Amino acid sequence: MADSLNCDLKSLSPLQLFERVTEQGEKVRALKAGKAPKDEIDAAVRMLLSLKLSYKTTTGQDYQAGLPPKDLVLINNGTTKEEDEDLVDPWNVQTSNAKGVDYDKLIVRFGSSKIDTDLINRIERATGQKPHHFLRRGIFFSHRDMDQILDAYENKKSFYLYTGRGPSSQAMHVGHLIPFMFTKWLQEVFDVPLVIQLTDDEKYLWKDMTVEKAYEYAKENAKDIIACGFDINKTFIFSDLDYLGTSPGFYKNIVKVQKHVTFNQVKGIFGFTDSDCIGKISFPAIQAAPSFSSSFPQIFNGKENIQCLIPCAIDQDPYFRMTRDVAPRIGQPKPALLHSVFFPALQGAQTKMSASDPNSSIFLTDTPKQIKTKINKHAFSGGRDTIEEHRKYGGNCDVDVSFMYLTFFLEDDDRLEQLKQAYTSGELLTGELKKVLIETMQPLIAAHQERRKQVTDEVVKQFMTPRKLAFEF
Ligand code: TRP
Repeated sequence: MADSLNCDLKSLSPLQLFERVTEQGEKVRALKAGKAPKDEIDAAVRMLLSLKLSYKTTTGQDYQAGLPPKDLVLINNGTTKEEDEDLVDPWNVQTSNAKGVDYDKLIVRFGSSKIDTDLINRIERATGQKPHHFLRRGIFFSHRDMDQILDAYENKKSFYLYTGRGPSSQAMHVGHLIPFMFTKWLQEVFDVPLVIQLTDDEKYLWKDMTVEKAYEYAKENAKDIIACGFDINKTFIFSDLDYLGTSPGFYKNIVKVQKHVTFNQVKGIFGFTDSDCIGKISFPAIQAAPSFSSSFPQIFNGKENIQCLIPCAIDQDPYFRMTRDVAPRIGQPKPALLHSVFFPALQGAQTKMSASDPNSSIFLTDTPKQIKTKINKHAFSGGRDTIEEHRKYGGNCDVDVSFMYLTFFLEDDDRLEQLKQAYTSGELLTGELKKVLIETMQPLIAAHQERRKQVTDEVVKQFMTPRKLAFEF
């Protein structure tokens, strides 16, 4: 047993080992908290010690909770990052800070712009609508060229929205909905076409999955996306595996991008190595192509220069930095971007959520009871250890995951502010805060499930059929 464990551990990277130790530590804590039988706790502790030892042998460093192995922390331009910097690329999100990633620093490092009050006010003036709470609360916090989109819009020039999802499994969690909820709002207030790319090809290339399975997940995920309420007359959803082979316009753009990006560049941007398959190496061109309106001649009447706006989580930015770099060289406008923060795992803003860990988030298929249990058991608390201390010193909203989730899902600004004050002052206890979150999430998820039920295979097919949308170009 120990041998097979060691052998198994040797094949892990320092980062994976770090994650294993962290997980095991959490398990031990949970067992102790749940007053599990002593032999079970002892076995878990032995495992923890053995993992820590492997970590030390592999990295030469002692395991420190919250501090990932130093030599490993690369940012996506391949340079070693400074010790206190966060790691953010399309596959990794890592920080040693319990509050989560430092987004102001990320703006500086990525060279994007902050979504400030001026921009939010301008969006309000242009659309005549109250800005979405994701804007008001800094959940969409960074942008590229949003002012140009507004210039164009104010001059009655149209644009279109582009977003996407990698269908890695059937199980979507609430975090996956953030970009879609926001995109739905953008579509409504600006009244523009929307294209949604399902990168089943990407998931086939990166994961251990057949093409058939990836395509199946794409169609399943499309149901959850459609359930967010997109207008069928204004939205085209496509699977790469399906659409690419039918669209010469799309393929021409892929080839143009491919001609203008070197292997060296993608190595630098995405960290690819000589032993990555060539499918991965050329994939960024496929995620770039929908940024150009000529990829969708049926929607844009063959027009080439319709400006594109991409709402996405900040980890997708490397793809679009590359796209924006190539765009002028192939005679296309650069896509504009709106970036969101990451959605925290229930266990805390430091850890990444994983679709394979049912306890790391609330899934769109969870029952009211599962939602309640997960929040009560797993949501990391910024409260104090005892009621007395909590009353005396108050809770910490900056690290409290229940409070973080409420900033995403509780729309009422006044109520949120009241909760924040009551929690910070110690008047409101963790259990009470959790109860508010449970009562917010249960109806939200139930309503989603109800809407998803209405989405038949026929509806999915309609959304995914290449066609003209309700706009003249
Ligand atoms: N690569 C993204 C993912 O794995 C999917 C995606 C494709 C995407 N195109 C996009 C996300 C455009 C945001 C915007 O989830």
